[in-house]
Amino acid sequence: MTAITELVSFDVEGSVGIVTVDNPPVNALSAGVREGIKGGIIAANKDDAVTSIVLFCNGRTFIAGADITEFGKPMVGPSLLEVIVGIEGSSKPVVAAIHGTALGGGLETALGCHYRVASPTAKVGLPEVKLGILPGAGGTQRLPRVVGVPMALEMIAGGAPIGSAKAAEVGLVDEVIEGDLRAGAIAFAKKVVAEGRPLVKISDQDEKLQEAKENPAIFDDFRKSIARKTRGFVAPENCIKAVQAAVELPFVEGLKRERDLFVELMGGEQSFSQRYFFFSERLAAKIPDVPKDTPLLDINSCGIIGAGTMGGGIAMNFLQAGIPVIIVETQQEGLDKGLALIKSNYAATVSKGRMSQTAMDKCMSLLSGTIKLEDISDVDIVIEAIFENMEVKKEIFQKLDAICKDGAILATNTSTLDIDEIGEATNRPESVIGLHFFSPANVMKLLEEVRTKKTSHTVMATCMALAKRIGKVPAMVGVCEGFVGNRILHRRSEQATALLMEGAMPADVDRVLFDFGLPMGPFAMSDLAGNDVGWRIRQGKGVTSPVADAICELGRFGQKTGSGYYEYKEGSRTPVSDPIVEDIIVKASKAAGIDRRDISDDEILKRCIYPMINEGSKILEEGIATRASDIDVIWVYGYGWPIYRGGPMRYGDAIGLKNVYETLLEYQKEHGDFFKPSALLERLAKEGKTFQDA
Ligand code: CAA
Repeated sequence: MTAITELVSFDVEGSVGIVTVDNPPVNALSAGVREGIKGGIIAANKDDAVTSIVLFCNGRTFIAGADITEFGKPMVGPSLLEVIVGIEGSSKPVVAAIHGTALGGGLETALGCHYRVASPTAKVGLPEVKLGILPGAGGTQRLPRVVGVPMALEMIAGGAPIGSAKAAEVGLVDEVIEGDLRAGAIAFAKKVVAEGRPLVKISDQDEKLQEAKENPAIFDDFRKSIARKTRGFVAPENCIKAVQAAVELPFVEGLKRERDLFVELMGGEQSFSQRYFFFSERLAAKIPDVPKDTPLLDINSCGIIGAGTMGGGIAMNFLQAGIPVIIVETQQEGLDKGLALIKSNYAATVSKGRMSQTAMDKCMSLLSGTIKLEDISDVDIVIEAIFENMEVKKEIFQKLDAICKDGAILATNTSTLDIDEIGEATNRPESVIGLHFFSPANVMKLLEEVRTKKTSHTVMATCMALAKRIGKVPAMVGVCEGFVGNRILHRRSEQATALLMEGAMPADVDRVLFDFGLPMGPFAMSDLAGNDVGWRIRQGKGVTSPVADAICELGRFGQKTGSGYYEYKEGSRTPVSDPIVEDIIVKASKAAGIDRRDISDDEILKRCIYPMINEGSKILEEGIATRASDIDVIWVYGYGWPIYRGGPMRYGDAIGLKNVYETLLEYQKEHGDFFKPSALLERLAKEGKTFQDA
């Protein structure tokens, strides 16, 4: 075996030259890998004993893409494009042997090879769009030449990978190899030579482009089909334009067009934020004071207390991960209703073709219910998901303490209550943790995990790993009112309401935040969640909110009652402005002695968003969140903050903390201490720093 570089080696087995990449964890295309592959192909071509070449990767995966950490830095060594030209130009056939994931530059490298074989579990895709860029090493020009334009558009502008079976069906993979991939790839390479198969250069082929040449409307139809999903993103459009170039231009000119479109995206704020977010998501899974090798508890069963919407949604995550769930309710009727709701949710997914009947049956077979708390005495984790009442929760946790086996994790899904206090109600506060799911709990990716002062490292580490198992992205935070997500949300809600009192209407505020990229504004969101929830909490605390209270007093609880801040026509979820609400708002301003004024969109945006950044800053100061990027993960995955703006903290960094700080000072003068900048924000702004530097 010859080392071409530290990360790539070359050896010969009989007549087959094997170029092996070894760059853990994901064989990313760092400079040493690019240089090594290029050198390996040259070495194989020079070696007279070699008649064919296999490109193989050690470890858990084929090349999973460019090395994202190199982005934005000066290029060292050969470009990927150069490497791929070398592979495609090889005079001996090159076979890519794919296992794990061939993504981005990894698939582009494989597309430069003359043949591709893959293990049955391999996945291939071009996910660059998710990083705000496009495949910049020929992927947009080669993929449509293999799979045709419609599928290439889906894969490039959508970013989702496909499995080997599908890849083989569409000709992207030449053979699926059961068993030893390396041996299978060597055998395949020998077969190519023995059968005198040609050196297939994808760049030479354009048969699969014909359909789009004859029907250029394909592109506009595709644009329309993804418009809703890609609102606000710039990368999908460039992806489409690049594929269009594959159809309209000769290969080499198409490559140049791809490069221009790639460079345009790479230098933009969206791509920067999306790449930042890629690493933020992974960083959030790490808790600095919890050692990496902390032993984990086995979680093979789950008890959920409460068969409401939340309890049911939480249960579905576990069932889909193959973990049996027992749901506990106090009354048989409530239990039956809850179990039926889960079944009907699954049935709806099956009828939409998003789940097989067999998968649904498997999930349902893992689900059971009981009205006796003792029936969950043996489960590995309990998640309490009942209404927000401290006394009731404490009572439940005391009972759990008495009946649950030693070592069981006792979790609460509370979004508001003090989990330290709940933990202290038990004799095992180290086993108590908050697992705050976001509604709809089977859909939203975030799991806000809340550690108390006493939660053990084992429980934290187990819950972080568990989140990944049930398909969630976790972020660990500390106890405070509303934890991280809702605490920041409340600041925004307060300003949204203040803006109504000063002159804006719900539709003004909602439009500005929707246009900013959020899925909906605060009033549409309140109508969706139910205005009565906040009303009851206010009543419990003895506080008032003139507009919100008046709306609830009219029974306008939101979509579920057909009206709230907006009116909803029968069977429709589209909010329509309602003069009754406008009248309530105008009267409330008058009663408070406020002269209503025109409020600009710019003011609406800053008044809603800057206090969120300021609150995030306070949260960091208090140590409730470990990193600014954890707050961003919470807001992107829990509240639909547009990923291309990175999260509220990244947005603050992007627009400049000095700007945020100075605007807050102006608002403080005008509207009071609600806007007082936090000490951390003040310091960073004065030092010209960002939250990432904090
Ligand atoms: N570059 C640098 N580091 C990467 C990386 C990449 N392309 N992909 C993953 N990593 C790192 C992660 O940051 C993580 O690091 P830490 O352990 O320090 O946190 C580590 O590798 C393992 O990654 P995951 O935790 O994500 O592991 P996983 O097994 O859950 O998932 C994966 C593996 C599916 C490959 C996933 O990491 C992934 O989707 N990676 C990104 C793939 C991608 O987007 N490729 C395209 C890159 S852009 C490109 O190729 C442009 C071009 O045209 C040339």
